[in-house]
Order: sequence, then structure tokens, then C-alpha cells
Amino acid sequence: MSMLNWIDERFPLTKVWNEHLAEYYAPRNFNFWYFMGSLAMLVLVMQIFTGVWLAMSYKPDADLAFGSVEYIMRDVDWGWLIRYMHSTGASAFFIVIYLHMFRGLMYGSYRKPRELLWVIGVVVYLVMMATAFMGYLLPWGQMSYWGAQVIVNLFSAVPFVGEELGVWIRGDYVISDVTLNRFFALHFLLPFILAALVFVHIVALHRVGSNNPDGIEIKENKDENGIPKDGIPFHPYYSVKDIAGIAGFLFLFAAALFYAPEMGGYFIEHPNFEPANPLKTPDHIAPVWYFTPFYAILRAVPSIAGSAFPGVIAMFGSILIMFFLPWLDRSPVKSVRYKGGLYKVILGLFVIDFIMLGYLGVKPTTDLYKLMAQIGTAYYFAFFLLMPIYSKMDKTKPVPERVTK
Ligand code: HEM
Repeated sequence: MSMLNWIDERFPLTKVWNEHLAEYYAPRNFNFWYFMGSLAMLVLVMQIFTGVWLAMSYKPDADLAFGSVEYIMRDVDWGWLIRYMHSTGASAFFIVIYLHMFRGLMYGSYRKPRELLWVIGVVVYLVMMATAFMGYLLPWGQMSYWGAQVIVNLFSAVPFVGEELGVWIRGDYVISDVTLNRFFALHFLLPFILAALVFVHIVALHRVGSNNPDGIEIKENKDENGIPKDGIPFHPYYSVKDIAGIAGFLFLFAAALFYAPEMGGYFIEHPNFEPANPLKTPDHIAPVWYFTPFYAILRAVPSIAGSAFPGVIAMFGSILIMFFLPWLDRSPVKSVRYKGGLYKVILGLFVIDFIMLGYLGVKPTTDLYKLMAQIGTAYYFAFFLLMPIYSKMDKTKPVPERVTK
């Protein structure tokens, strides 16, 4: 123990261990949905490791990039595994994060006192999207190239400064070697910014404590020693429980990784097995699945005088509106368990709506699909903007004093 004392006198190791693990009290009723935060941390670490290892053989050069990825897949020892872990990991990351965010939506985890925790989460989500977008350019396949072309062109739709903005982002008039080089640099940097943001996310979480499926504040009901009656120490109870979640996740992840790493074109799109060709536009350009709900919103909004700007505003607006969620919900209760039928139906339809938009975003537009995307977009915004009204109208149930189960 003298070694530990030696460290403790110079660094608050035991203090941090106790405050954040052994004597950190978390609600005793966490369920499946509470695995996602630790899984997201696992995937982030995995992405950083596999990414750094890929970077050892990858070449961020328009003439060499595609070939270097093929080289990794065929010649580098275990390169195929590292590459597929990274590409499948990107999709796994978004699956986990969407479930993580949905949990917040279900249990009102964004409500007071967790507003800032939620806002930091939305920043994390934005940085994740930027990272994934830049990463997708790196293999320099057809979809890498044309996907980036379409998305960066959106910035050119901004009035007055658009053209310059597009050139500034690309470093050129079209997506080119210069763009590839800077996207590589930023794609390498952003995950470390993400890690720092996740640290801040956890600091904010530990300041207020976790919410739980009942949406009850366990800190309001403490025993004579000041310990929440419904709390259990994070370590060992949840550290062990999270390991079970990790085992389940790795089982599913390995199944995707070894049996369907392209996931039928959803995780890696088919045109990306062809090298980028600036002279040949693919028949149909669609982003990877995790962006498609927002892409559907972009395409649903009609252009004005030939400018796609309204669609661009709607697309960015659909993400930025998430920042305001904590102040839009006026329900007297937090968790969906004690909300009324009205909110349950509205939330259920929101999930269907988001999945529908995601599906429409991968499909070429037809008149019917466009109409569906417009209805979907209207519902998406109504969900947020009308929340102050319907969350008040909803007939809620009484919330118990102690957590259930
Ligand atoms: C790299 C991405 C992320 C990581 C590693 C991460 C990590 C975590 C962890 C470990 C927890 C505690 C365990 C749990 O409740 O599941 C947590 C809680 C939470 N996170 Fe995240 N998170 C991420 C992204 C997000 C995003 C995008 C949002 C929302 C937009 C968000 C909102 C929240 C909220 C509100 C809580 C508290 C939930 C509750 O107590 O019910 N997080 N996060």
C-alpha cells in the first residue's frame, strides 16, 4: 500500500477512484439502454486504435489513396481486419449513439439538471458527423468522391459567400488531392477532440448524476449517511454489468464484421469499390445510412430561384434544433413511463418518421418519395416545435417517490 500512498500524496488517484467509481452512486434501476454510453466509449477507443494503424499504411494522395486501401486489404498483415473493424466500427458507432440519444428522449435525460450534459452530447454528435464525413473521402472511391462533391457543394448554396466558402473548404474548385490531404489531417485530429469532449460529457454527468428509466432524482432521497437510497456504487455493480453489455455488443459486432462488413452496401456503398473518377458521375449518389435522414430532409425542401439554400437550412436546422430540446419539453414528468398516451404516440411516430426519412434518403427521388419526405420533414420539425404545446396537454401519471424494480 505504500506505493499507493506515495502516488496519492502526489496525485489524487484514490480520491478520483472513489468519487467516480467505488463511491459514485448510480440509480439501481439501469436497463438495456444504459449500456450505450460505455459502448460508445469502447467504439471510440476502437476507432482511434484501428484508425492510427490504418494511417500507418494509408496514403493521403489522390493517385495513391485507393490503391493503398487495396494494399491494406490484401497485403498488410491483418490489414483487412483493421480496415473492416474501422469501417464497420463507424456504423456501429452511429447505431450505438442513436440508441443512446433515443434513451435520452425516452427518459427525459435532457431535462433539468442535465441540459448542459445534453448540449455537450449534441456537440459530440456534430463532431462525430464531421469525422465520419471526412473519413469517407479517404478511400477515394466513386462514392467518396461524389458524396463529398455533393455535400461540399451545399455550402456553395449559401448566399453571397457560398462560392468562396466552397473553395475554402475544398482548397480547390472541385474535390481534389488538396481536399483529400486536409480531410485526412482533420479526420486524424477530430477523434481526439471527440475524446476530450467525451471527458467533458462525463464530468458534466458526474456533477448531476445519471437519470434513470423512472426519471426520478435519486439525490432527493438520501439515507442518514447521505447516500441515495436508490443508488448503488458504480464499481463493482455497473462496471460488471457493463462488461455483459460489451460482450453482447462484441458478439453482434463480430457477426457483422466477419459475415457482412459491407452490409449489403449500407456500411460501404458498392460504387466505392471503384476508384474515384471525376469525369464519371455515378447514377445515384447517396450518403452512408447514418446521414440519410438529414439528406432526405435536404432533398424534401424545394429550391427557391434555383438555389438549394432552403434545403440546406432545413438540413442543418434539423440537427441544430436538438440543442433546444431541454427547453421545449414542458411536461411535469421526465420519463415516458409516466407520460400520457399522447406523448407515447407522438414519440413512436417520431421513431417511424426518422427511419422512414433514413430509407428515403438512400432511394432516388420519385414524386411519391418526395411527397413522403416532405411529410416526414414536416413531422420531424413539428415534433420539436410543437413540443411546448403537446407536452403540456398530455395527461401524465403520478411519479412514484422511489425508483421501481
Ligand atoms: C462519443 C459519443 C458519446 C459517448 C462516448 C457518451 C458517453 C456517455 C456515458 C458513458 C454516459 C453514462 C452512461 C449512460 O447513461 O449510458 C452518458 C450519458 C448521457 N449522454 Fe452520452 N455519450 C456520447 C454521446 C452523446 C450524445 C450524442 C448525446 C445527446 C445528444 C448524449 C447525451 C447523454 C445524456 C443526456 C446522458 C445522461 C443519460 C441519463 O442519465 O439518463 N451523449 N454518455
